[in-house]
Amino acid sequence: MKAFDLSGRVAIVTGGNGGIGFGMAKGLAEAGAAVAVAGRNAEKSARAVAELKALGAKAIAVSADVTREADCAAMVAATVQAFGRLDILVNNAGINIRKAPQDLAAAEWESVLSTNLSAAFLASKAAYPEMQRQGGGKIINVGSMMSLFGAGFAVAYGASKGGIVQMSKGLASAWARDNIQVNAVLPGWIDTDLTRRAREQLPRLHDSVLSRTPAGRWGTGEDMAGVAVFLASPASDFVTGAAIPVDGGYSAQG
Ligand code: NAI
Repeated sequence: MKAFDLSGRVAIVTGGNGGIGFGMAKGLAEAGAAVAVAGRNAEKSARAVAELKALGAKAIAVSADVTREADCAAMVAATVQAFGRLDILVNNAGINIRKAPQDLAAAEWESVLSTNLSAAFLASKAAYPEMQRQGGGKIINVGSMMSLFGAGFAVAYGASKGGIVQMSKGLASAWARDNIQVNAVLPGWIDTDLTRRAREQLPRLHDSVLSRTPAGRWGTGEDMAGVAVFLASPASDFVTGAAIPVDGGYSAQG
């Protein structure tokens, strides 16, 4: 369907070399987009790029620590240099530090907020001039179930992911006249490196997610591909400032 066609479009996916980011990158590539995988682990990024190329897509790896404003600018510049434009930015890079709030050091709080929230702002700001010049663009910010719910073991994470939703609404309002749509995606519990570590730290997590998720399973990176294509494509041109759960019904059940 043409409305979902991304041929000729160019995307950056931060933290796109594994997990949810790679699931989204694959979806965008399969829909026709050229993809820049931005991350810190060069080896992992090279593997992701090879897989995207095997799908027939154009892809490059860009080395970036998105908490640094200069890296965000360089990431956009490298992508535009390689592919000539920038249409889609997926702010997916994220971390969690699981501790009781009274044990969380100030530097740990800063690090989670900086990676999950400030970096999404810095990357969006870096992408804006290119999107504005071209006459439009799509920004997809990755939130969480903790954009909606609180968790005692992840207070900084929840604050950052709540912030992602509000930031998306603000950017959507600011840039609508530039034809830039900004939306958030709220994944449920997805099987990735991040949640594998969580399952090691919280032994009951695996089963409690299964029993709390109406779909009766953990999600996969691939489950995030469809929403990424929708929010990156002309199909969503009148959708902006939204926060869309992709969670097997987790947030729907009381
Ligand atoms: P992951 O650990 O596989 O992926 C996170 C990626 O972000 C990694 O590639 C990591 O290297 C990268 N990253 C972290 N800090 C970075 C920085 N400063 N600069 C550049 N890259 C950086 O984890 P996962 O699960 O794929 O997470 C992706 C996003 O989805 C995160 O924002 C996470 O909070 C969010 N999320 C994950 C859920 C899950 O169940 N796995 C649920 C809800 C949200």
